[in-house]
Amino acid sequence: MKIVVIGGTGLIGSKTVAILLEEGHEVVAGSPKSGVNTITGKGLKEAMAGAQEAIDLANSPSFEDKAVLEFFETSGRNLLAAEAAAGFRHHVALSIVGTDRSDNGYFRAKVAQEKLIKISGIPYTIIRATQFMEFFGGIADSSADGNIVRLPPVLFQPIAADVAAVVAEVALAAPRNGIVEIAGPERVPFNEIVARYLKAVGDPRQVVRDPEARYFGGRVEERSLVPLGEARLGRIGLDEWLRRSRAGA
Ligand SMILES: NC(=O)c1ccc[n+]([C@@H]2O[C@H](COP(=O)([O-])OP(=O)(O)OC[C@H]3O[C@@H](n4cnc5c(N)ncnc54)[C@H](OP(=O)(O)O)[C@@H]3O)[C@@H](O)[C@H]2O)c1
Repeated sequence: MKIVVIGGTGLIGSKTVAILLEEGHEVVAGSPKSGVNTITGKGLKEAMAGAQEAIDLANSPSFEDKAVLEFFETSGRNLLAAEAAAGFRHHVALSIVGTDRSDNGYFRAKVAQEKLIKISGIPYTIIRATQFMEFFGGIADSSADGNIVRLPPVLFQPIAADVAAVVAEVALAAPRNGIVEIAGPERVPFNEIVARYLKAVGDPRQVVRDPEARYFGGRVEERSLVPLGEARLGRIGLDEWLRRSRAGA
């Protein structure tokens, strides 16, 4: 089967492409670097020729509220229109657990992306994952004031990039016309796991437990960022992920 992976050069995209190629599928890793741009529409039609399925793993170059909303809306519209014209049978996209339960700008953009998919008429599966461990540094930076990182003690269940295996598996299964959730194996207070991460990588910043601290500007409650119902679980916890990162795996 020919599958178009939009964002196929990214963190999750490149791993997903590798898995699908290994399983013998024909894969187009579409991204601006390879001449496929979902914002301008450039290269989309050519990338889709002969394919029946797309996996959307693109991400916005800017996380600023307006820019990220514009990115996911424009990219989603262009991609889904091209898929509809080509008669695609499955659209898979990666979203975020709890994206409709907090009010930051990035989450609002992902909700907008999900809405476009649901009304597109194309059979779909949305995978909602918890935060990637690769994102710990970005989280610390966004919550830092000098050497102090303020984070709320809400539950957190980060996942390693092994989320790509689930993306590939879901893409090869029948469309659910619904949502599949995946989270990491450890559910722990947000402030504690980020403190563990910073200590392990030798980052001198101190994490302060602050129940009033926001997550990218949005309020979060105890269970805002973790699955509320049934979820697939990744196998790689923080310690194993740190070991693999140090080994360059
Ligand atoms: N970070 C998290 O904790 C988290 C959690 C759950 C879900 N997600 C979602 O997971 C998805 C993948 O994230 P990631 O971290 O793997 O992304 P990433 O590493 O930042 O990669 C982004 C990809 O998007 C591509 N891209 C950018 N602009 C594009 C455009 N105009 N047209 C086509 N492709 C474009 C990039 O291509 P170039 O390389 O050519 O620039 C790159 O391949 C995102 O949708 C994100 O919302 C993230």
